[in-house]
Amino acid sequence: MDRIKLIDKLNTAHDLSDEEFYQLIFPLCSAGLSEESSPDNAALKAYTDAAAWTKDEEDHLYITAREAADANYGKSVFLRGLIEFTNYCKNDCYYCGIRCSNKNAERYRLTKEDILNCCDQGYYLGFRTFVLQGGEDPFFTDERICDIVSAIKLKHPDCAVTLSIGEKERASYQAYFDAGADRYLLREETSDNEHYHYLHPDSLSMKHRQNCLFTLKSIGYQVGCGIMVGSPMQTPKAVIKDLRFMQELKPHMIGIGPFIPHKDTKFANMPAGTLTDTLHLLSILRLMFPDILLPATTALGTIHPLGREMGIKAGANVVMPNLSPTGVRGKYLLYDGKICTGDEAAECRMCMQRRIESTGCHVEISRGDHCSVSH
Ligand code: SAM
Ligand code: FES
Repeated sequence: MDRIKLIDKLNTAHDLSDEEFYQLIFPLCSAGLSEESSPDNAALKAYTDAAAWTKDEEDHLYITAREAADANYGKSVFLRGLIEFTNYCKNDCYYCGIRCSNKNAERYRLTKEDILNCCDQGYYLGFRTFVLQGGEDPFFTDERICDIVSAIKLKHPDCAVTLSIGEKERASYQAYFDAGADRYLLREETSDNEHYHYLHPDSLSMKHRQNCLFTLKSIGYQVGCGIMVGSPMQTPKAVIKDLRFMQELKPHMIGIGPFIPHKDTKFANMPAGTLTDTLHLLSILRLMFPDILLPATTALGTIHPLGREMGIKAGANVVMPNLSPTGVRGKYLLYDGKICTGDEAAECRMCMQRRIESTGCHVEISRGDHCSVSH
C-alpha cells in the first residue's frame, strides 16, 4: 500500500499491522541503521534512497496529524514548567550525561525553598503544571519528595504536579500520589530487551521499568511514557515494539525526542537521532492516539532551531520550558548542546509563546490535563 493510503488508514483505524508500520517507520535515518552498524552499506543506501519520503507524503502525514490534534484539543498548546531539581543519579544509563560514573558532571541539588521559588515564579508567568525532574537521587527520600509535593499543592492548589524521578516501588509511588502528585513521566526507553541491555547496565531491567508504568497507572496517575528517537542500535522493529507496548499501556502522554550524544558517554561518537525521524514518529503517535498529550521536546529544539515549531505542526501540543534557576541550568546536561541553558524563566516563557503563535496555535493557561480527566 502506498504511504498516503497508510496514513489515511492509520488516521481512521488508529492501528496498522507490523508490516504496514514498517513502511511508515522505514527509513529510520538514525543510528540504528547507520553506516557503522550496517553490514552492507551500499545495499542499505540503495534501500533507504528507494524508501525516502516525498514532500507530498510528508505534508500529508503532518497535516493529517495536526488535524487530529486540533479535533481533540483545538489549537491549544499546554505549557509545563520544568524544574530540574537534582542531577545526582545512582544509575548509569550509558547514553545519559548525568549518569553516576560521569565524573565530569558538576553535581547540584535544589532545596525545597529553591523549588517553591521556581513554582512561584512559574505561577506568575502562567504555568499551571510543574514538572519536577531529576536523577534517581537517594538524598530525596520519599519523605522529602512528599514534603515538597504537598508544599507545592498547598501554595498552588490549582496546579498539577508531575514527577519524573525514575523507578521506585509501589509504596513510594503511592505516597507521592497521596501527597498530591498528579502525573508521572517515565520513558520506557525501548521495548526491545536486547536494545535495552545495549543502552543500560545489567542492574537495570526493561521489565521492571515497564512494570513501574503499569503500577503508576493503577494508582491513578496520568502517566507519560516514551523513547529517544535514533538511540544507538535502535531499529524500526524495536520502534514497532514500542508502539505495541504503548497500545498496551494506554498512556496519557508520550514523550519522544531525538537521542543526542554526550561527550562523556560511550556513545559520544554516535550520530544523533534525526529531525525527520522524530517528526514522522510524532505524527504517527498522534494518529495512533489522537487524544494523547504529545510534547515538542527541548531535544527536538536542540537538533534544529525550529524543531519544536515543526513538532507542533506535526501534531505535538505540549512544551516544557525550563523554570530551573539559571545558576544550575548548564549542569543538567543529559546531552551536548542543550538549548536555553542561559535564559531566565521569563525569557523562555515569552520566547515559547512567540514560537507557538508562529505555528498558528496558542498558549493555553490551564493545567492541561488529558481530555479524559475531569476536575
Ligand atoms: N531519572 C528520571 C528517569 O529515569 O526517568 C528522569 C531523568 S532522565 C535524564 C529523563 C530522560 O532523558 C530519559 O528518560 C531519557 O530518555 C532522556 N535522555 C537521557 N539522555 C539523553 C540523551 N543523550 N539524548 C536524549 N535524551 C536523553
Ligand atoms: Fe539517571 Fe540519567 S542515568 S538520570
